[in-house]
Amino acid sequence: MKVLIIGSGGREHALATAYAKNERVKKVLVAPGNGLMDFFSKKIFIFPYIRVNDFQSIADLVKKEAVDLVDVATDEQLAQGYVDKFRKLGIKTFGPTQKQAEIEWSKDWARSFMNKYNLPSPQFKSFNNQKEAYEYIEKLEEQTLYIKASGLASGKGAIRAETKAEAKKAIDGMTQFGKAGETFLIEQAMIGEEFSLFALCDGENYRIINAAQDHKTVFEKDMGPNTGGMGCVARAGVITNKIIHEAERDILKPFMKGMRIEGRPYSGILYVGGMLTENGIKLVEFNARWGDPEAEVILPGITKDYITIIETVLDKKLKQIKISPSKKVRISIAACASGYPDNYDEVKGKEIFGINEVSRLKNVKIFGAGIKRNGKRFFVNGGRIFHIVAKGKNIIEARRRAYRAMSFIHIEGNNLHYRIDIGWRDVSRFYN
Ligand code: GLY
Repeated sequence: MKVLIIGSGGREHALATAYAKNERVKKVLVAPGNGLMDFFSKKIFIFPYIRVNDFQSIADLVKKEAVDLVDVATDEQLAQGYVDKFRKLGIKTFGPTQKQAEIEWSKDWARSFMNKYNLPSPQFKSFNNQKEAYEYIEKLEEQTLYIKASGLASGKGAIRAETKAEAKKAIDGMTQFGKAGETFLIEQAMIGEEFSLFALCDGENYRIINAAQDHKTVFEKDMGPNTGGMGCVARAGVITNKIIHEAERDILKPFMKGMRIEGRPYSGILYVGGMLTENGIKLVEFNARWGDPEAEVILPGITKDYITIIETVLDKKLKQIKISPSKKVRISIAACASGYPDNYDEVKGKEIFGINEVSRLKNVKIFGAGIKRNGKRFFVNGGRIFHIVAKGKNIIEARRRAYRAMSFIHIEGNNLHYRIDIGWRDVSRFYN
């Protein structure tokens, strides 16, 4: 069997590794992929010349290689309707359709859906006119708000505003997101701890896989600008069985039912971006795909084989299987180019040392992202270069292994940046 995954980051590397584990899968193709994927596995093949926005070149590759299953792992391609397009060509494809994925690519539609089906959300209002948004802000009490681009904005579309003046500046700033910022939302800020919960859905039923906690800002203590994710922990300690029960009752069940009523029975991975507030769980957002770096800490812990799970989803038989979360704790740390997420152009092309040493460590994996390979030498090719993932019986052991592994890494010109506090919430929750 041959599987093709669209994407190039740590998430896609973790997915490729999960698919490759099954012996029925002879070849995993990743378009475009990255330079670490095909270094660690003889089954994984990358296609760096392919552009993810070029549907036809991917479709040609699928045909040429006689691919049996396509996994559309990236938000932009889900929004562009790749799942619908592949299915139209008669190719078995995993992921939500364009209409189902609207739960991610239009925050405006998603918040209206949440309101309609009583899913726990903050107060919000949508605008596509600056003047009306200014007038709305003027009428509000002074409070912390989020101004959010409705469309996809590479994780950078939500701007926090502490004052009315900051809120107006953020409204002006929506133009930087182009079409994605033409409609924008003004939301009340929520206070609490964030988590990411993942469920597989087959249109009728869902199965929770696990929950994780991402660390989004570039510096320790949640300081600095937001990034794609600097590190992650699964299972996050904040997610107790009681919280899972609440999430099923208040979010997952009404979500599945609402999407069916809307004529969009949801099939694929559902990423519930939640916040634990003093009034219970509230929804920050839904995403229609695996998170990155959440996939890197959850996928290696799935004991059932991944291809079988995905086939079960496509056959709409999810009800017949159980998915148990791993008992181990996994932690990921993103190795980044210094300057990320702003300007790291000068670091591109620098050599990376220590990958081979890390790959020999027990209980540790490396998932590539912005990395290129030339023979046995590795070079920086993006802001998040790779993710080190370590497992342990608890957060302390997993963390010690991950940071020890990172100590082997060096980037030419001393250009490595990583956060040294990944997992701090669970360390202080359980060990202080
Ligand atoms: N971890 C954040 C995201 O994948 O959107």
